[in-house]
Amino acid sequence: MSFVFTMKTILITGGAGFIGSHVVRLFVNKYPDYTVVNLDKLTYAGNLANLTDIEDKPNYNFERCDICDFEQVLAIFRKYDIDGVIHLAAESHVDRSIKDPFTFAQTNVIGTLSMLQAAKAYWTETGRMEGLDKAAENAERCRFYHISTDEVYGALELTNLAGGDEPGGGPFGDAFFTETTKYDPHSPYSASKAASDHFVRAFHDTYGLPTMVTNCSNNYGPYQFPEKLIPLFINNIRHSKPLPVYGKGENVRDWLYVEDHARAIDLIFHKGRVADTYNIGGFNEWKNIDLIRVIIKTVDRLLGNPEGTSDQLITYVTDRAGHDMRYAIDSTKLKTELGWEPSLQFEEGIERTVRWYLDNQAWMDNITSGEYERYYEAMYKDR
Ligand code: NAD
Ligand code: DAU
Repeated sequence: MSFVFTMKTILITGGAGFIGSHVVRLFVNKYPDYTVVNLDKLTYAGNLANLTDIEDKPNYNFERCDICDFEQVLAIFRKYDIDGVIHLAAESHVDRSIKDPFTFAQTNVIGTLSMLQAAKAYWTETGRMEGLDKAAENAERCRFYHISTDEVYGALELTNLAGGDEPGGGPFGDAFFTETTKYDPHSPYSASKAASDHFVRAFHDTYGLPTMVTNCSNNYGPYQFPEKLIPLFINNIRHSKPLPVYGKGENVRDWLYVEDHARAIDLIFHKGRVADTYNIGGFNEWKNIDLIRVIIKTVDRLLGNPEGTSDQLITYVTDRAGHDMRYAIDSTKLKTELGWEPSLQFEEGIERTVRWYLDNQAWMDNITSGEYERYYEAMYKDR
């Protein structure tokens, strides 16, 4: 069923992280009559400095909480009388999942289960949820929106090596991930996200919890933790450090500007169909090495370096274990049904992103000094 959802006390998990902070900012600014509650454990990836521009707004609230702590989560539902959830909190970095899969199973699977149980318990005790046979009525009173990833679909092959007409030279194959593509996760991260997606759908089918799931491609933009490719490389170029390219640099990712993802989440949360799935992506495939060359060129230009200065920083390193070759999302359903399209051309998005990181060195330095730096060095010593 489809209608405009009008509930107004929204719990956003993982709101101190990269994508979550953009979603929190959008909701706090766009909906002054909503109460927005940001629930975040503040792991290494959570950073309240991502939200300084909105932290004093009257409709913004922060609760430090581990999503695995069912009792505390339930208490937060009761404290604010939550009627909508947008669930982003997760362990999100593939390389970390290879080193420490337990943490990913705990947060992404058990944590999501704990969120689902708390939502079901609270919405049942407040009469919003009346069981499976009332699924349609339940959906008018509450909503649980789970944010997932395209990585659950596995990997596509590179079949069109010559590429096509997309900005990054893609598409690099004829196949795309659609909403009906069979799940085939390869990394502990994507396996844990796939398991969490299954739990979300099971709570709809078993209890009538009004759920929705979206699977998005790679995001880029401000406030991304600098262990991920784009912010890591911008920062390394700035400091003339090596740029560790995994394998031959031929893997393909489909990049979407983070604010476009946040806009899609807003649209789907309010107007999407309950018990349904939407893929979100920008038809913007890039081979890693081509993307890296664009980043190098942009950073060098903005720093006033002669073109080519940082090319010598490219360092090919041992490939990521189980490295998925190509991701490419087909987001036709979202465009056709809800009219969403990316607003930014990639050239503009990457220029904006590089400028933001160069203009916000204090944000970056706060993260890259101390503990993170030690972690990062240890991680790359092993490679
Ligand atoms: P991130 O790592 O930047 O942020 C994750 C946030 O979750 C942090 O603020 C962290 O403190 C919080 N968190 C982690 N464990 C927690 C716990 N146990 N309890 C409460 N909070 C906890 O992640 P991101 O890149 O912003 O990704 C957000 C979501 O979007 C994830 O679910 C991820 O799987 C999904 N996703 C990410 C991308 C991407 O390109 N980054 C693409 C598609 C989907
Ligand atoms: O596709 C969506 C996913 O995108 C999200 O679900 C994940 O949370 C998010 O981290 C991202 O996963 P990736 O593994 O694709 O992103 P990452 O930035 O880690 O890597 C992008 C590509 O660059 C990938 O092919 C690996 C490669 N890479 C990455 C790093 C960090 C390198 O070559 N060198 C590096 O140092």
